[in-house]
Amino acid sequence: MSLLFSSSSYRSVTFRNNVFVSPMCQYSSVDGFPTDWHLVHLGSRAVGGAGLVITEATAINPQGRISPSDAGLWSKDQAGAYKKITTFIKEQGAVVGVQLAHAGRKASVSPPWEGGIALSPSQGGWQTIAPSALAFGALATPSQMSESQIEQTIDEFVNSTHLALEAGFQVVEVHAAHGYLLHEFLSPLSNKRTDQYGGSLQNRMRFPLEVIKAVRQAWPDELPVFVRISATDWVEGGWTITESVEFSKEAKKLGVDLIDCSSGGLVAHAEIPSFAGYQVEFAQKVKQGAAIATGAVGLITEAKQAEDILIQGQADAIILGREFLRDPYWPFHASQELDGKVQVNVPVQYMRAFNN
Ligand SMILES: Cc1cc2nc3c(=O)[nH]c(=O)nc-3n(C[C@H](O)[C@H](O)[C@H](O)COP(=O)(O)O)c2cc1C
Repeated sequence: MSLLFSSSSYRSVTFRNNVFVSPMCQYSSVDGFPTDWHLVHLGSRAVGGAGLVITEATAINPQGRISPSDAGLWSKDQAGAYKKITTFIKEQGAVVGVQLAHAGRKASVSPPWEGGIALSPSQGGWQTIAPSALAFGALATPSQMSESQIEQTIDEFVNSTHLALEAGFQVVEVHAAHGYLLHEFLSPLSNKRTDQYGGSLQNRMRFPLEVIKAVRQAWPDELPVFVRISATDWVEGGWTITESVEFSKEAKKLGVDLIDCSSGGLVAHAEIPSFAGYQVEFAQKVKQGAAIATGAVGLITEAKQAEDILIQGQADAIILGREFLRDPYWPFHASQELDGKVQVNVPVQYMRAFNN
């Protein structure tokens, strides 16, 4: 059997295969609550055979949302609303995860299909916060976070972690990538602080590591914690892959189980290459350098390409974004291609369409 469709375990959770759905914002929530869209969208990828279905960036408080229609998990009512979705995904045999996030200086914008432009308070926007009062591109200037706001944010990550358990999630992924709040602390381009949270690598890592530590402590020992990083800013003077390896070593010491290796998003002017598997080298470097499991993501679309990444030991999991939007049944098709027959349990309702 292919490596892609072999099962794997992180802590006490077994994943039926190593094909994971990448977190993808749907901008279809109401006051942070998931809607029927989420049940159908996430549920379809579980029906389609993914090993892990993870929700989009889910804000720990209202100000941490990218747009007013982002997902959130700061109230018990929201946790309750997720139960139907998590139950359905688990019933299909997939593991269900949530990506916990704070958008920092990239918050308070309209959804992409409305331009992704900064929203003023009269348009439903809000004052953004960040390590330093430096704007992202043409977005509004954030206010610099005080130490008490930093402490409060850690508490809010903990609150959301408790709610994630209540909601029925089995994996928490801390979003420390794509130029959002945690990544803003890591990168010297967005973090110009002179206190214990800025300057040296150790200081820039302090807040993200405090968040990870608090989340890990709040999450049951038997359940895994993943962290998504941007392995490089792709610009001179920015966050680097070498620093990502150091950060991953520290995250591992805190009990993180997998580093999901993305890149970019911190500055608008970065020139990011886009060839098949362009971020795989980062998953490989973090895996080797920090001796931790990694997920490879970014322009992975082909079964053989995905299998080769695992065979070569470059990553432990294959994380697909846009390909899963095009084809929710990618695991059926890919396993048929690799193994000659479908290696994922086809729902009984669909069996007549798949003659193994
Ligand atoms: C519609 C859309 C929404 C996304 N939202 C998120 C998100 O909420 N969190 C995140 O970490 N990445 C997000 N991403 C990035 C994807 O998870 C993924 O890393 C990226 O698309 C590259 O993988 P791909 O080439 O397989 O699509 C999003 C991407 C897309 C296309």
